[in-house]
Amino acid sequence: MSEIALEQSSFNSPVVLYTYSFVTASYLRHQKIVALQDKKIVDLNCGNGYSTLALALANPSAKILALNCSATAIEIAQRHLQHYGLQNVEFQVCPLERFGEITQKFDYINAENALDQFSDAAVGFQLLQNKLQPDGIIRVKVDSAIARFYNYRAKGFFAELGLLQDTPDKNEIAKVREMMGLLNKGNLLKELTWLPKHSTEAGEAAILRDYLFPSIKGFRFSELFNGLESANLEFISMVRAKQWDLETLFQNIEDLPIFLTLRLAEMSLSEQLQLFELLNPIHPTLEFWCGHPNLEEPAESPSEWTDQEWQNAQVSFHPQLRTPALYETMQHCIVQQQVLELTQFLPIVPGPLVIDSLMVACLLPLVSQTLPVSALVEIWQRIRPLNPLTLEPTSEGEAWGAIVQLLISLEELGYVLLERPS
Ligand SMILES: C[S@@+](CC[C@H](N)C(=O)[O-])C[C@H]1O[C@@H](n2cnc3c(N)ncnc32)[C@H](O)[C@@H]1O
Repeated sequence: MSEIALEQSSFNSPVVLYTYSFVTASYLRHQKIVALQDKKIVDLNCGNGYSTLALALANPSAKILALNCSATAIEIAQRHLQHYGLQNVEFQVCPLERFGEITQKFDYINAENALDQFSDAAVGFQLLQNKLQPDGIIRVKVDSAIARFYNYRAKGFFAELGLLQDTPDKNEIAKVREMMGLLNKGNLLKELTWLPKHSTEAGEAAILRDYLFPSIKGFRFSELFNGLESANLEFISMVRAKQWDLETLFQNIEDLPIFLTLRLAEMSLSEQLQLFELLNPIHPTLEFWCGHPNLEEPAESPSEWTDQEWQNAQVSFHPQLRTPALYETMQHCIVQQQVLELTQFLPIVPGPLVIDSLMVACLLPLVSQTLPVSALVEIWQRIRPLNPLTLEPTSEGEAWGAIVQLLISLEELGYVLLERPS
């Protein structure tokens, strides 16, 4: 394999780092912020190091091991990591089939296009399950068989031409580009698979994935959920779960005929996800977290917390929001009395998500530290001492109401993390 450009614009974007962060996954499961110090992360089939770079940046003090069967790929990945000055990664030539021989267990297993190696997903899940710490989490990313149907047709075509290889090169990429350029406008395969990014330098990685890697195969939810069950693993959540909500596909959920409402209500999660794909196959990959069955009670949503729980709770910004750029913009908003548009800094939900400048002043300390929620309430009372409508002093109850309401909505969207003492 030669040096193939990474999709530079994306591997270090806040959204990518958000999804690679062990903090994101662990908070979803345990409603706790995990300390990354010395946590062990493994990146299976690390390829040219795109996923390894994202893991290393998103989890700065964790120890990362990146594995691949090809020494050449490892060399390239190592060079990419060195280029970005990242020290927290070790590499090892190790085919996935021999992952079980590695003596350690891991807190976070990144299995991206790795399950493809197994004709039965259950065998792959079992291998990962054996190497997972009790509180560990696996991030799985595989192609969707339904959404990428046409890419598989394209691969079939290039296989006929003898171009599909485990370690394709710039040569094969050039041939794909040439071939797609020669097809008539309106050709169905081209219309359904060729995107503007495929023509750019940064699109080389996408050409490999979409046209040339033979090892990548597509999965359906039914196969994945059966595999999880037989390996005694539990599904935690889709990454970007809101984008998989069936209700969003209908103009008005209230208008559904009764037979459909009843059927939806009795469907398992895996059936609902499958139905989403059949109706609207917009997600080319199926990306989710799973782990050992959770023996604890599922964490209660903060909207259900008692006053007592709120009084003892702590609040943090997600680590991907703790940046100098956000701090500077927040200061600017406060001084200029302008609103803050938070999704600009971490576009994990469709924007705009607007926060008024007084509330921005209240949240400012969260860029650098975790605080008790009660500290934010005190700050709010100092920033807004009077109720502007009645001109009466802002009561403690009013201040709690304003802060709790904002934190509940920011937590639900993934921007703040709320912890209760254990
Ligand atoms: C699609 S890439 C994965 C890339 C990487 N996970 C990422 O998303 O950036 C596939 C990589 O898996 C490697 N590979 C293929 N079969 C493998 C196996 N049996 N064990 C380990 N690595 C393998 C190939 O050498 C290639 O580098």
